Amino acid sequence: MSDMGETHKSNTPAYSPGLEGVIAGESALCQVDEGEHGLRYRGYAVSDLAEQATFEEVAYLLLFGKLPISKELEDFSTQLRTQWPLAGPVEAFIGVVPPDAHPMEILRTGISLLGMTDPDAAPNSHEANLRKSVRLMAQIPIIITNAYRLAHAKRQVQPRQDLGFAQNLLYLLTDRAGDEKAQAMARVLDVSLILYAEHEFNASTFAARVAASTMTDLHGAITAAVAALKGPLHGGANEAVADMLLEIKTRERAEKWVLDALAQKRRVMGFGHRVLHHGDARSQIIQRHAEALGRVCGETRWYDIAAIVDRVMREQKGLYPNLDFYTAVAYLLMGIPRDLYTPVFVCSRITGWCAHVIEQQDHNRLIRPRALYTGPPPRSYVPLDQRT
Ligand SMILES: CC(C)(COP(=O)(O)OP(=O)(O)OC[C@H]1O[C@@H](n2cnc3c(N)ncnc32)[C@H](O)[C@@H]1OP(=O)(O)O)[C@@H](O)C(=O)NCCC(=O)NCCS
Repeated sequence: MSDMGETHKSNTPAYSPGLEGVIAGESALCQVDEGEHGLRYRGYAVSDLAEQATFEEVAYLLLFGKLPISKELEDFSTQLRTQWPLAGPVEAFIGVVPPDAHPMEILRTGISLLGMTDPDAAPNSHEANLRKSVRLMAQIPIIITNAYRLAHAKRQVQPRQDLGFAQNLLYLLTDRAGDEKAQAMARVLDVSLILYAEHEFNASTFAARVAASTMTDLHGAITAAVAALKGPLHGGANEAVADMLLEIKTRERAEKWVLDALAQKRRVMGFGHRVLHHGDARSQIIQRHAEALGRVCGETRWYDIAAIVDRVMREQKGLYPNLDFYTAVAYLLMGIPRDLYTPVFVCSRITGWCAHVIEQQDHNRLIRPRALYTGPPPRSYVPLDQRT
């Protein structure tokens, strides 16, 4: 009999620290396992999607439940290219953020503010939530890059009508578009967006679902998700991996750096996973692309250092790289500013988050688990004037 059955029978709630291994709800969005294909979005192997689809197709699949036909994809891509203009208050907010604010903090507040200015702000109907999701997909890259460009005194740019989603994102982030290198980079960015799009009940998605289950608005649930993703144990890891590669600096220093880190009981970012203990198929996909991109860019140092770190971590700790690890190599090669790595993750994961919010609200049951009480035993109230 399952744990759940035992729990029900004995009426003693089971407890699993960090909810490890707990089935906390149902979802038709993705299936996580450690088999050959590793991960499926609505039944499709992510390995097939990464090699054959574009991020727009995958986003459509997650949000609308099916792969688009050509006309649907064309309409969807047009919406993503045209629904980016930010409302006045959001533009004004970007103009006054403190200069040392982290882009994830800007995004957290920016998305909350978008919720106050969205034409569908209050309604939670399936259709209204889909419209809000598409607008968020179009607007999030603009919040990120407008704020970054303003803070670094760089010229503002707008999405181009002749570019796809990943090409436009690369252009907004780095000014690159069109040439052979930019095309190779955009293809790898597209793959990374596909791989980052959805991963069932990870911390940020679960945060979004908990908020959504109160029937709050979609922007509120997404704000909760952004706050959760910011943490270094979750989305912040890709940025930390790049910091590590830059600190290691040369191939020769890599092995000793990892051994020292492990001797000091430090966590090496980009390794380990709460669910995937025997490796992450997504990591193998982005690893291949990061290696190839290094050759296109004529810069193989970051990949080589990463491969050494990977080898030593497997030998010493039996730990495998997660998706963030080789993604950081690819983003370094693209010249994406490091503090924008996690916001780029948001540009992708917004699709999974929104699909989860919609799924939750379409079949809602308030998420309200129990706690195992560990405080003092019952005691008597002591009036203020008698306390010592
Ligand atoms: C992702 C993560 C939080 C999962 O953690 P978890 O399931 O709670 O696993 P634990 O933290 O209990 O770790 C289990 C053991 O592996 C070790 N470990 C896990 N990840 C490690 C890492 N990245 N570097 C070094 N040791 C690690 C822990 O120290 C612990 O060892 P111990 O039993 O000797 O104390 C964890 O692997 C981690 O912190 N990774 C680095 C951050 C990262 O890459 N996050 C992105 C996740 S997709």
